[in-house]
Amino acid sequence: MLNKNRLRIAMQKSGRLSQESANLLIKCGIKINLQQQQLISFAENMPIDVVKVRDDDIPGLVMDQVVDLGIVGGNVLEEESLKRKMDIDHPLYNIIQKLDFGSCRLSLSIPINQEYLNISSFNNSRIATSYPFLLTRYLKKKNIEFSFFILNGSVEIAPGAGLSDAICDLVSTGATLEANGLKEVEVIYSSSACLVSRIGEISDIKKNLINKLITRIQGVIKARESKYIMLHAPYTKIQSVISLLHGAEHPTISKLAGETKKVAIHMVSSETLFWETMEKLKSLGASSILVLPIEKMME
Ligand code: PRP
Ligand code: ZN
Repeated sequence: MLNKNRLRIAMQKSGRLSQESANLLIKCGIKINLQQQQLISFAENMPIDVVKVRDDDIPGLVMDQVVDLGIVGGNVLEEESLKRKMDIDHPLYNIIQKLDFGSCRLSLSIPINQEYLNISSFNNSRIATSYPFLLTRYLKKKNIEFSFFILNGSVEIAPGAGLSDAICDLVSTGATLEANGLKEVEVIYSSSACLVSRIGEISDIKKNLINKLITRIQGVIKARESKYIMLHAPYTKIQSVISLLHGAEHPTISKLAGETKKVAIHMVSSETLFWETMEKLKSLGASSILVLPIEKMME
């Protein structure tokens, strides 16, 4: 029996988002064994249950208020919204945090050796897809006459098997298209993962837990984007060195033991340090330049 006081989070069971979703929850300090092949896993240290399902089922679980939160791709969320003819003034969910993974695009792709002029090339074509609503919205706006059929897996084999002229499917690295002799010709929707919450009554306990989780997720994302930079710089070049380090506020400058011409500069930078910048720092006389990843961050 599910406990009503525990926060339920849905995530993808297996696929492009599953590993990153699990990593995110674990980085947020949730102690949970997600390796097991079971639908629901219980956190040991927080009142949180994780429900692992097919990604396409997550928007529905959130909209039907079966779970409180879902980690899901914007593409499946938008597809389900169109399917349910969601009224934009009365959404059936809230996107509460954009996540820094799962970026992909829903694209139209055709056989590699086929010529492509423009979108009108899709007139009278037959398209295989798992995203009929997003596809229809896009092509209708462009006044294209087309037909589609639904494949919920192995969409990319349809043209080669003579079943369709084109496909409308997700592209991430492009490896799947390439392996199947297809080329991407039209991006119809760009997407990345997000954290969504259900609408409706929610207890204060759960509300507080959600807020805590959001703060931690933001901390994890921020830490992943940031670097800790340490270096030694000539005393006379402090200003030039700092001006090369974008995104770094209030560096710490300290003395070095047994060295009077140089100082140590430490800072958190919101950007990584590229080799080019490191080379410029070196030419200013900087040395012992270290760029370290940051484990956690809270502002
Ligand atoms: C998508 C899509 C392709 C693959 C593309 O599947 O259907 O198979 O990813 O990725 P690539 O460009 O990096 O090769 P997804 O992971 O969403 O799985 P699902 O369709 O089973 O949910
Ligand atoms: Zn899917």
